[in-house]
Amino acid sequence: MSHTAVDVIRAKRDRGVLSDDQIDWVVDAYTRGVVAEEQMSALAMAIFLNGMTSAETARWTRAMVRSGTVLSLDVDRPTVDKHSTGGVGDKITLPLAPLVAACGAAVPQLSGRGLGHTGGTLDKLESVPGWRAQLSVDEIQAQLRSVGAVICAATEGLAPADRKLYALRDVTSTVESIPLIASSIMSKKIAEGAQSLVLDVKVGSGAFMKDLPSATALAEALVAIGSASGVAVSALLTDMSTPLGFAVGNAVEVAESVEVLRGGGPADVVALTVALAEEMVASAGISADPARVLASGEAYETWARMIRAQGGDPEAPLPAPTHRHLITAPESGVLASLDAYAVGVAAWRLGAGRARKEDPVQAAAGIVLHAKPGTYVSAGDPLMELHTDTPDAIPSALTALTSAYEFGPPPPGSPLILGKIPPAG
Ligand code: URA
Repeated sequence: MSHTAVDVIRAKRDRGVLSDDQIDWVVDAYTRGVVAEEQMSALAMAIFLNGMTSAETARWTRAMVRSGTVLSLDVDRPTVDKHSTGGVGDKITLPLAPLVAACGAAVPQLSGRGLGHTGGTLDKLESVPGWRAQLSVDEIQAQLRSVGAVICAATEGLAPADRKLYALRDVTSTVESIPLIASSIMSKKIAEGAQSLVLDVKVGSGAFMKDLPSATALAEALVAIGSASGVAVSALLTDMSTPLGFAVGNAVEVAESVEVLRGGGPADVVALTVALAEEMVASAGISADPARVLASGEAYETWARMIRAQGGDPEAPLPAPTHRHLITAPESGVLASLDAYAVGVAAWRLGAGRARKEDPVQAAAGIVLHAKPGTYVSAGDPLMELHTDTPDAIPSALTALTSAYEFGPPPPGSPLILGKIPPAG
């Protein structure tokens, strides 16, 4: 049956349910340039306002997967991937991928660059001297066989419909729609070809989803798409009201990840890495104890091999900033809160992130925290240190941090893991 963009837009504008055929047609025609940007803008807004059923969302995802190539990974171990909806100081992919590979799975972690206040995994890893993000499909496959873990840029041909649509949503204020976010994330993950997927859906000021009900709705939508697509997907809902760990930025987050891989590191980063690794090995059907593997040093060895396989030197010193600025505690007391979003914006302004896709990032820029919520500090003690190569950026970073922290009664212990959505039946 032939369709027109106007009919499809009208159907969704009038709160109708799109047929499979309409969805397949409109996604394909948009990818080929037959449906114009202004028509897809109108449709995205109609979807934003009127939503999609879970069947429509699953079909929309399938159409976006089919707009490009699907990797068919030929490796001799179960493949399992992880996706985080993004947070401040969220470096978990770095220790997690080698840890899960050291447990016996293959981890194809195709990652993105940061945009806005959350950092990008590739930007972080590019602070390792020599490390290369761009790999061919043959290189990905060879590295999965030899090392077990790859963290690299998504290949061009994966879900091109999403690449186009995401850029359009960004400039038409249609990003924050659960069916559009869920289909966007899952189209890329399904196209990567992993057999199972564990999601880390962040909740709090530093996350896309600011409260538990909306994060739960997103997690359920993601898990439902997985089940409709034959990929085993489970999700953890985790706190992102305060930054993860003590490091926010690029090189500083790599350094903190290496501490974790060497058996140290902040308790929250270690706990989340191990919790996600447990989910991943279980969904891959492997019986392994990630905490034991982490403690044994095997995960660090896998990390070093993974970095070397992509041209990097795991022992090389990481870039250091030309300028540092220390913020000290204005009063004595317990740090009651430290806002993830404010810290993310400050790190971004220091040069750790980019405002436009084509902007460069500074490897050494970021923030090192000296205290986390619940810690007692005396007036004059260090609270955090700002790192940058562009000292002119420090005043605007300080502005972002103006109301970032409060002193007061110790915060009620809030758990890091707020919930879990198991794979759909
Ligand atoms: N991440 C994605 O990949 N897509 C979205 O729509 C939002 C976050």
